[in-house]
Amino acid sequence: MNPINRREALKTTLIGSAASLIALTKSDAAFQPTPPEIEGPFYPVAQQKDKDFDLTLIDGHQEKAKGKVIHISGKVIDTTGQPIEDAMVELWQANAAGRYAHPRDTSTSPLDPNFQGWSIVPSGKEGEFTFKTIKPGAYKVANDWTRPPHLHFKVTKPGYQPLTTQMYFPEDTELLSTDGLFQRKPPEQQKLMVSKSDKAGLYRYQIILAKIDEGQSPQHE
Ligand SMILES: [Fe+2]
Repeated sequence: MNPINRREALKTTLIGSAASLIALTKSDAAFQPTPPEIEGPFYPVAQQKDKDFDLTLIDGHQEKAKGKVIHISGKVIDTTGQPIEDAMVELWQANAAGRYAHPRDTSTSPLDPNFQGWSIVPSGKEGEFTFKTIKPGAYKVANDWTRPPHLHFKVTKPGYQPLTTQMYFPEDTELLSTDGLFQRKPPEQQKLMVSKSDKAGLYRYQIILAKIDEGQSPQHE
C-alpha cells in the first residue's frame, strides 16, 4: 500500500471509531483506565492456528521470526488496583520491517513467513500475562507521518468495558513526538500508553480496565 492509500485506510478507521474517542470521565477510582486507541486497518482477517504467547516461533516452523526479540511482562488490573484474572489479552502487530501480514497492507516492506503476528492469551490469577515477540518496525502512513513502533491490544472480560488500545516503547521518543495518534492524547494519557523498561528487551505494561458501570461509554471497535 502506498503512503496515500495507507492514510485513507487509517482515516476510515478513524471515522469508524469516533465513539471510542469519548473523553474518560472523572472517577474516584485510584487508577484511570488505559486510554483507548483506534483498532487501525490491520486487525487480523485470516484464521491462524498458533496464537500462543510466543510470536517469534510458529508451531511446526524450523526458523524463528526476524528481528530483535523482546518480552512483554504485563498485568491487567481494575481501577482500584485489583488484579483481573482470565481477561482475554489479544495482541497483533507489524513484523520487524513494519509490515502486517494483512491484505490491506501492500507496503513494499518484506513479509516474514516465520512471524506469528497475532496472539491471544488469558491473564493469570494475579492478572499477569507475558508475550515473547519481536520489536515491530516503524511504518509510514503518509510522506510526512511515520507511525512509531507499537503493539495493538484488545482486552476483554465480562463485566468490564472492552478495551482496544496501542502500546508504545519508551525509547522511541522522536517518533512519538511526531505521531498524529499519540500526540492527540493529553500527557497523562500518553504516560499510560508507553510501556516501561528497566532491562534491555523487557517491557512492563499495565492494562487498567473500567467496570461496565463506571460511566465510560462502551467502545465500538
Ligand atoms: Fe499499527
